[in-house]
Amino acid sequence: MASDWERAGERSWKQKVPSWGIWALPESALQLLPATMDEMKSIELGCGTGYVSAWMRRRGAHVVGIDNSLEQLKTAERLMAEHGISFELIHGNAEDVPLPDASIDFAISEYGAAIWCDPLIWIPEAHRLLKPRGLLTFLGGHPLAMLATPTSGASCDEHFHRAYFGMHQQDWRGVEYDPGGIEFNLTHSDWHRLFRETGFEVIDYLELQAPQGASGTQFGIPGEWAEKWPSEQVWKLRKLPTEGEESHLIGN
Ligand SMILES: C[S@@+](CC[C@H](N)C(=O)[O-])C[C@H]1O[C@@H](n2cnc3c(N)ncnc32)[C@H](O)[C@@H]1O
Repeated sequence: MASDWERAGERSWKQKVPSWGIWALPESALQLLPATMDEMKSIELGCGTGYVSAWMRRRGAHVVGIDNSLEQLKTAERLMAEHGISFELIHGNAEDVPLPDASIDFAISEYGAAIWCDPLIWIPEAHRLLKPRGLLTFLGGHPLAMLATPTSGASCDEHFHRAYFGMHQQDWRGVEYDPGGIEFNLTHSDWHRLFRETGFEVIDYLELQAPQGASGTQFGIPGEWAEKWPSEQVWKLRKLPTEGEESHLIGN
């Protein structure tokens, strides 16, 4: 499907000011990126065409983007050349990143690992990669949007179509409308438990609302629906230092 994402990638690469998610909400409202990223080591997990990586590079970060689609990475390479921006790309699985422990200051995913990787695997993997007190921010679909999507894959409506408890993976491959892949989400309490058990603290949690008057349907979410209910969520996490690391950090 990489060719379907080229045009959107080209548009986002041109943006000097980031905007996020299906409603293109501005960075000034969401603050997903650290204000300055000079010399920060950052990674985008499931980078696709790499526009988030480009935004971080423009803020001064050293950036690595990882994606398991070679075609997406080819688009990212082309756009790097066209924009005169360069960062490292890895063709690989964001659940198993070939980089050392504690080597990253800031990790991010917008609809990459955030929804396409198993959280029980990629959250601990992101934790492994981060330095003590390193940050992980990710944006993906809200559990409510998953519940309100009919089993046919048609657009969200005002009914619940599946159980909330036990939510983990949703297979969209065989559905009637807009068949996709296997997507992951958890209940709120399961996300919290996973973060706590992995060693993250939650710094912030956002439930994204479509702007007033949002028209049309984006990726199966009608604008009217997303004005009333959250279609997307953002988690902002910090890696808790272990006790030994804590005293080392204070000592320094
Ligand atoms: C919708 S894109 C999101 C990336 C970016 N925000 C964009 O829109 O181009 C989802 C990306 O996640 C990648 N992806 C899916 N599963 C992955 C995995 N296990 N490891 C790395 N990347 C993965 C896909 O190849 C795709 O490029």
